[in-house]
Amino acid sequence: MLLDIENLTVQLPGTARPVLTDVTLRVAAGEVVGLVGESGSGKSTTARAAISALPGDAAVSGSVRVDGTDVLALRGEALRAHRARTVAMVHQDPRSALNPVRRIGDFLVERLAGTGTDRKAARARAVELLDAVGLPDPERRVRQRPHELSGGMLQRVVIAGALAAEPGLLLADEATSALDVTTQAEILALLRTLRAERSLGLLFITHDLHLAAAYCDRVYVMYAGRVVEEQSAGALFDGPRHPYTKGLLACSPTLGEDGREIRPIPGRPPSLADTFGGCEFAGRCPDAEADCAIWRPEPVALDGGGAAACRRLPVLTGPGPHERSTR
Ligand SMILES: Nc1ncnc2c1ncn2[C@@H]1O[C@H](COP(=O)(O)OP(=O)(O)O)[C@@H](O)[C@H]1O
Ligand SMILES: [Mg+2]
Repeated sequence: MLLDIENLTVQLPGTARPVLTDVTLRVAAGEVVGLVGESGSGKSTTARAAISALPGDAAVSGSVRVDGTDVLALRGEALRAHRARTVAMVHQDPRSALNPVRRIGDFLVERLAGTGTDRKAARARAVELLDAVGLPDPERRVRQRPHELSGGMLQRVVIAGALAAEPGLLLADEATSALDVTTQAEILALLRTLRAERSLGLLFITHDLHLAAAYCDRVYVMYAGRVVEEQSAGALFDGPRHPYTKGLLACSPTLGEDGREIRPIPGRPPSLADTFGGCEFAGRCPDAEADCAIWRPEPVALDGGGAAACRRLPVLTGPGPHERSTR
């Protein structure tokens, strides 16, 4: 298994509940896996665990393995090598990853320096990488500075930089969220191509479940630091089982563009100051009963594969709200 996170619990000092509780998540080589949830659900913290970049003062239990290596035990040079070569991360804002006064080519050459490539070869390789991510006129681009390129072009540059060390695992944390719809589709197509050509494992993090279901092979849905549902993307879209997943599908902005009604989940996602005696979602859940606030639901295996953690699962077998007509 490329990325193998098992029962990961992360608690920060001075907080009432863990950032992550019992998170188990896997990404195989060549697989595109979605990680979805509202802001604050723990998605970025889960990604940071893969590069052992959790807050230094956090209490951590469980295991994080990449290609069989126990990542949380890595220190010093071994940890630097892991971050530089095995796993690459792409964030929402490409401008924050690029030095505004330096040329695009220098950014890539710097990335390649860690791979033992000499400077002249690195120059040529930088052009190749820009070509591989579909940036037109790469010879000219390497001489340009970030302000001369659009946001979509810059995200391609950052992805080229991430690929420089030929990592096995790419973590894309809201990597397309700041882009317009057309550019977003182009970057998604690029990531899929790269994953096929290079057998990359891809963890695709987004708050947009509709996008993840359309784009990924498998999707994990996270709420308040726990995985509440995991299914293949098709099964999740056709038959979401957890009320939170159903709620996310009903409020996806992508559905709004089809002219359908957008219904946001009422209430707000909890903070780390909120504690729960039962299901974290009970207070916002349209299907909750009194017992849901008292009993913690365990993940239950679903017939078609995957799992969901909801104590009302046996009775909630109806179609998801996105399948019902809203007008
Ligand atoms: N280093 C930190 N110190 C304090 N709180 C943090 C830290 N990192 C994350 N958090 C909190 O943990 C929760 C989960 O954060 P995060 O993993 O960034 O969620 P997401 O990426 O899903 O929005 C949030 O409430 C956030 O404020
Ligand atoms: Mg985040």
